[in-house]
Amino acid sequence: MSLLPFFLIRLLAPWLRPLRALVARGWLVEAELDAVLAMLHPAWRLNRVFARVEGREWVGDDLLALRMRCNGNARGWRAGQHVQLYLQLDGVRHGRSYSLTRVDARGRVELGIRRQPGGRLSNPLLDRVEVGQLLELGQAQGELRWPQQGSGVALLAAGSGITALLGLLREALAQGYAAPVQLLHYVREAGQRAYRDELQQLMARHPNLRVRWLLTGQGGERFQPAHLLEMAGMALLACGPAGFVAAVREAWGGPLQHEAFSPSPRVAVAGQALRLEFVQSRLQVAGDGARSLLEQAEAAGLRPAHGCRQGICAGCTCSLLGGAVRDLRSGETLAEPGQAIRICVSAPLGDVRVDL
Ligand code: FES
Repeated sequence: MSLLPFFLIRLLAPWLRPLRALVARGWLVEAELDAVLAMLHPAWRLNRVFARVEGREWVGDDLLALRMRCNGNARGWRAGQHVQLYLQLDGVRHGRSYSLTRVDARGRVELGIRRQPGGRLSNPLLDRVEVGQLLELGQAQGELRWPQQGSGVALLAAGSGITALLGLLREALAQGYAAPVQLLHYVREAGQRAYRDELQQLMARHPNLRVRWLLTGQGGERFQPAHLLEMAGMALLACGPAGFVAAVREAWGGPLQHEAFSPSPRVAVAGQALRLEFVQSRLQVAGDGARSLLEQAEAAGLRPAHGCRQGICAGCTCSLLGGAVRDLRSGETLAEPGQAIRICVSAPLGDVRVDL
């Protein structure tokens, strides 16, 4: 039961700023304030984002557009970014990252959620979430932006990679982008051409937009470097599984924006005894160089915030205060004090201090 209507908590969100300042100074405890706010409306929180489901629409055989309105705490979100969506299943809290396909100034957002074989969170979401239900989201992350340079824009998407690019495309066309735009979407089967009706309508309205679908299933046409020939001189954005994005990067050879939806293979590192310091928790423990900092923090009894555990969602990001870590996906070394690291895919390279 709610004592306040949802629209009012959206309007009142800016009035919570003084309370946020007191929490930041340590004079009030956020969890205690949240408990009071939640008594007035279950979606009201000081900082956490809760959103009410306002619509569901299947935009492909296996992809659902989920439309929601946020509680006023979604700050600076842009289409093309991604957010964690949390769901409690059998008493366990799960989180997954989904792209924002639409964001407006009134707190309305749209996510694209794809059904995955055996998907532990996506499938219950698709099957059970109903209009009117409240869901918790993390703050938006991601750097993809509509390019300002180049003689046009080329968008390459594989599978659900279309969700990260569609929002950028919708906004650019709505704002009058008139240079050529080419969208190439690789899908296994015809039914997976998500947003096909909308894209065809956009093509009819915007002569500068050309959309093509390539069917990759059963001996179909996978990505080949030749597909990039007609995109020479354009700014390129690529989004899809890590293998697809890596192939596009290699074939393109120049700068491009990209986002991979599945983890790159991890680079193995040797185990070695070392010291880990979790500064906020005032905890020092012996660690090793083989496991991620997230795994080692959890083994030490800490419960760091996290989502995908695969280096994708940025939900585990924290600051490296001292020492060096290795990115378990690429093998890259990160050693700059104050640098943001994703602890689920960072393993220590010697003694480290992290702001956790
Ligand atoms: S938990 Fe998602 S990036 Fe680390």
